[in-house]
Amino acid sequence: MTRLAILVAPDPLLKKPAARVARVDNSVRTLMDDMLDTMYAAPGIGLAAPQVGDLRQVVVIDIARKDESPAPLCLANPEIVWSSPELGTYEEGCLSVPEHYAEVTRPDRVRVRYLDRQNEIREIEADGLLATVLQHEMDHLQGVLFVDHISSLKRGMILRKLTKAKKQALEKG
Ligand code: NI
Repeated sequence: MTRLAILVAPDPLLKKPAARVARVDNSVRTLMDDMLDTMYAAPGIGLAAPQVGDLRQVVVIDIARKDESPAPLCLANPEIVWSSPELGTYEEGCLSVPEHYAEVTRPDRVRVRYLDRQNEIREIEADGLLATVLQHEMDHLQGVLFVDHISSLKRGMILRKLTKAKKQALEKG
């Protein structure tokens, strides 16, 4: 498995919608494996393909705690088929928006249909943290970041800080 570079906002690729995969073949499985490797190394609990510069609808998630065994979830072409009218608010972060966090309100429960690693159609119903992570990662496939759900004032502040940090990193070489 290969660790991939994670794009940091602002980056045009993070704003582009991803395309559905025709089927989960070896090329998609390799992407899923590399994304898992990249996510665990970061470390993070979710990663979407656009974050590694690949505009295919692929997401990996693992919300297992350190004292639990890994429980990787690989999803291609995920779609929300039902969401609860009840909302939940969680503090979100993102590997593409490092060191910034904000509260985001989303449906508390969702049912998601997707293709698994074997190209089988599956459905998962999730609440709590998993529901949040699923929606956060699926947003990435539409070019949406969690900061797009918060006030433009706060978003502008975060993006300016990230731009400044990138510039400083470039100057340092
Ligand atoms: Ni993210």
